[in-house]
Amino acid sequence: MAFLKPYCVFMFMVLFSSYVITLSVADRPNVFSKFPSYWGGGGDDSNEGNGGFGGGGGGDDSNEGNGGFGGGGGYNGGYSSLFPGFYENSCPQVDDIVMSVLEQAISRQPRTAAALLRLQFHDCFVQGCDASILLDDSSTIASEKRSNANRNSIRGFEVIDEIKSKLEQACPQIVSCADIVALAARGSVVLSGGPNWEVPLGRRDSRTASLSASNNNIPPPNSTLQNLIALFNRQGLGEVDLVALSGSHTIGVARCVSFKQRLYNQNGNDQPDETLEINYFNNLKSVCPRSGGDNIISPLDYSSPTKFDNAYFQLIILGKGLLNSDQVLLTQNTRTMELVQSYAEDASLFFEDFASSMVKMGNISPLTGYNGEVRKNCRFIN
Ligand code: HEM
Ligand SMILES: *[C@@H]1O[C@H](CO)[C@@H](O)[C@H](O)[C@H]1NC(C)=O
Repeated sequence: MAFLKPYCVFMFMVLFSSYVITLSVADRPNVFSKFPSYWGGGGDDSNEGNGGFGGGGGGDDSNEGNGGFGGGGGYNGGYSSLFPGFYENSCPQVDDIVMSVLEQAISRQPRTAAALLRLQFHDCFVQGCDASILLDDSSTIASEKRSNANRNSIRGFEVIDEIKSKLEQACPQIVSCADIVALAARGSVVLSGGPNWEVPLGRRDSRTASLSASNNNIPPPNSTLQNLIALFNRQGLGEVDLVALSGSHTIGVARCVSFKQRLYNQNGNDQPDETLEINYFNNLKSVCPRSGGDNIISPLDYSSPTKFDNAYFQLIILGKGLLNSDQVLLTQNTRTMELVQSYAEDASLFFEDFASSMVKMGNISPLTGYNGEVRKNCRFIN
């Protein structure tokens, strides 16, 4: 690299500081007492959204949205035709452009990092990593933005648009929207203090979307552990991937509607989820009423809501996971329980596994070669 862009310096600072934190977490068992009362999604001053969320996914065991694409449908059997140097000659500035837009967007609004990380998950679990989630409604498209998991919840599209328009100026019709999603997710993790990794590239963009696969493939927040494992298996992902990638919930927020069932009626008997730690439970009830307030947000990791670290796993061990899907990872005598414990103890193990699971998730059924297209505008097919 001939030049050192300002964000590179920023990245080094973040990486360095995350290294320091990795050490200090180990030395400081009671990391939580430093942040006793982080409530209501501060830091992000986001508060938004309106209207009702469907509560989370309909019928989970239906058909998948995978496969059927020219690239050899389904998971790539562990191999991928994607590779990090894909734009080396055609658009060498791609990562600089992505990172400079991200740096500004995230410093303006830290929650943007969480939004962009989640976007790749919701893209890849529906027809593979093909930017189908970015498509707006049109005569041929039923937008995935309307699905149970996405409605009034998924965000970050304006930042993707900004990256795309800068890339169209620099290297017209070269960089796919699906690759932008993957680079934006990685960059968001790095800028939040998490691990860095090389992103395999060369995905192309779909000419279709699947609202039904978005409803069926993305797990709802009240999922059981069996349900989570099944939905990840369907994508070629295992229990390490499930637990490591759930660690994404170390940043960002959830709406009251996504965890309300745990507070008031966990099993249809008007009782709360007994795995909730009592003080945490009382705090959550004070921000998430039994009726109404569906769009009030709470941090997924209240101890460090904008920092990518392993506090999420430490909180789960204390009974302070926000979503049912977070807390059930600790189910007794399971492989997932052991993984939660390992990641809570060892931030660098979490970082390593997270990075490799992100690459694996990013390899789900990409369109390559002559399949799909490179969209000019990420919201519409060409
Ligand atoms: C394991 C199954 C998962 C479930 C059930 C789940 C569910 C959810 C729910 C319900 C929310 C809050 C949405 C809302 O209330 O508006 C959320 C937020 C989030 N999820 Fe997940 N998630 C899962 C896995 C993942 C994965 C694999 C990633 C990324 C690789 C991810 C990244 C995020 C992030 C970063 C946020 C915060 C978004 C924001 O602040 O805008 N999640 N998730
Ligand atoms: C999850 O929530 C949905 C929607 O509210 C509900 O229909 C479903 O029964 C719940 N699932 C579980 C396991 O509680």
